[in-house]
Amino acid sequence: MSTAISPTAYNYKVVRQFAIMTVVWGILGMGLGVFIASQLVWPELNFGLAWTSFGRLRPLHTNLVIFAFGGCALFATSYYVVQRTCQTRLISDSLAAFTFWGWQAVIVGAIITLPMGFTTTKEYAELEWPLAILLAIVWVTYGLVFFGTIVKRKTKHIYVGNWFYGAFIVVTAMLHIVNHMSLPVSLFKSYSAYSGATDAMIQWWYGHNAVGFFLTTGFLGMMYYFVPKQAERPIYSYRLSIVHFWALITLYIWAGPHHLHYTALPDWAQSLGMAMSIILLAPSWGGMINGMMTLSGAWHKLRTDPILRFLVVSLAFYGMSTFEGPMMAIKTVNSLSHYTDWTIGHVHAGALGWVAMISIGAIYHMIPKLFGRAQMHSTGLINAHFWLATIGTVLYIASMWVNGITQGLMWRAINDDGTLTYSFVEALQASHPGFIVRALGGAFFASGMLLMAYNVFRTVRASNPVEAEAATKIAVVGAH
Ligand code: HEM
Ligand code: HEM
Repeated sequence: MSTAISPTAYNYKVVRQFAIMTVVWGILGMGLGVFIASQLVWPELNFGLAWTSFGRLRPLHTNLVIFAFGGCALFATSYYVVQRTCQTRLISDSLAAFTFWGWQAVIVGAIITLPMGFTTTKEYAELEWPLAILLAIVWVTYGLVFFGTIVKRKTKHIYVGNWFYGAFIVVTAMLHIVNHMSLPVSLFKSYSAYSGATDAMIQWWYGHNAVGFFLTTGFLGMMYYFVPKQAERPIYSYRLSIVHFWALITLYIWAGPHHLHYTALPDWAQSLGMAMSIILLAPSWGGMINGMMTLSGAWHKLRTDPILRFLVVSLAFYGMSTFEGPMMAIKTVNSLSHYTDWTIGHVHAGALGWVAMISIGAIYHMIPKLFGRAQMHSTGLINAHFWLATIGTVLYIASMWVNGITQGLMWRAINDDGTLTYSFVEALQASHPGFIVRALGGAFFASGMLLMAYNVFRTVRASNPVEAEAATKIAVVGAH
């Protein structure tokens, strides 16, 4: 079998743009994370100004890390994967460019409006209606580019990674549009179309599936391409990947009520959400095992390849957070964990350990290929980054477990006469050491991103435009 170079090339320009912005937004979003973590240690850092207060910067942190950093990583990798596995160029360069500039415009809009206090108040859906509409238009265009490319594919079947990316794109559009239904009363103020418990249920149907489809399904698409590629092994079980896909997408959508335990939501809905969350452990671990077992016969590569280490450790954290989540969904456990730092620890086990680590691994894999280099400028720096990220994540989540359980137990402790044993402030004081360790862990993680930026900069600067262009040519395997 020989390999020929087809005259048509992949559109790597848009992939390069999104890949570079992943690093830029990662530094800003995580830097802001370290800043708000420090505000919880030293409240003076709120500076007495409304727009630098924790309450306004926290949603900016979540928007920057989820939608700017995570979103750009998903755009970059999905455009890369869909072209390579379908052996065809994106269906439209101009629509792809529109998704890049439109997405950056939404992010800049968030950076301006959130500190000013414009917010719908719905978590992870804070952006007011003009930005929400722009986001919807960009997202539908993304769907057109992605599925249009799949339609014009040169390969017979659709690689499983694309199924995951496809589900993430379709479901995110559905969630965003339904949850954002609202009545605008001025340029920056709107009221939700839903009220009371219905509003809460729709918000957490959105919120949970933002986790399930944005922070999980999309990144599983990434996992199914980059883990086998970096390990140079086929995926452990293709059949398991199909079972994993259908089980995951049919179960996730029901689990939202676990965010609303012991609220005005009907009790049966809470119990249904709890049951579905527990069952969700099975497909989540099926996916994790499928990724891990892909390394069969290639474990020795972990000794020398820090990119593979990022990918494998991300799967370990994925397994950990998807074990913890179903446990926290059990009502009695949730009565201890809810409102405490345990939730924050769980979030970052998923966000830092899984989402950020797999994205970092995928970007390190892609950058040399996108810029026509054999490898990244420095493997040693990737290794240093790996340890900073791993130690940072462990410090973050361990401190939040200790804080969370301490808070939960102190809040519920009562004296014989029925009065509270501890005041709220006493529980806060007990949390202070944990806040310091979390800020330190965050600083570790964020400084690793600075090493990454330097390494990427050196790799890009050394790139040769002619070689970079040649790398975009489609290799048609089997051609004569
Ligand atoms: C250097 C790294 C990071 C640091 C120091 C950091 C710090 C923080 C802090 C202090 C909070 C507020 C906690 C509270 O209200 O008590 C927070 C919330 C949050 N962060 Fe991060 N973060 C980091 C990275 C990330 C990343 C990469 C993601 C996602 C990919 C992420 C997603 C979130 C989410 C979703 C919340 C809201 C959690 C909730 O409401 O339960 N963070 N982060
Ligand atoms: C089987 C998988 C999972 C289940 C069943 C699950 C379950 C849960 C539960 C029960 C909570 C606490 C709700 C509360 O008390 O308010 C929670 C919060 C959260 N989880 Fe998970 N989780 C899973 C996986 C993940 C993963 C992989 C991530 C991240 C990538 C993640 C991100 C979050 C976030 C961001 C929150 C905080 C939501 C908020 O209150 O703002 N989860 N999850």
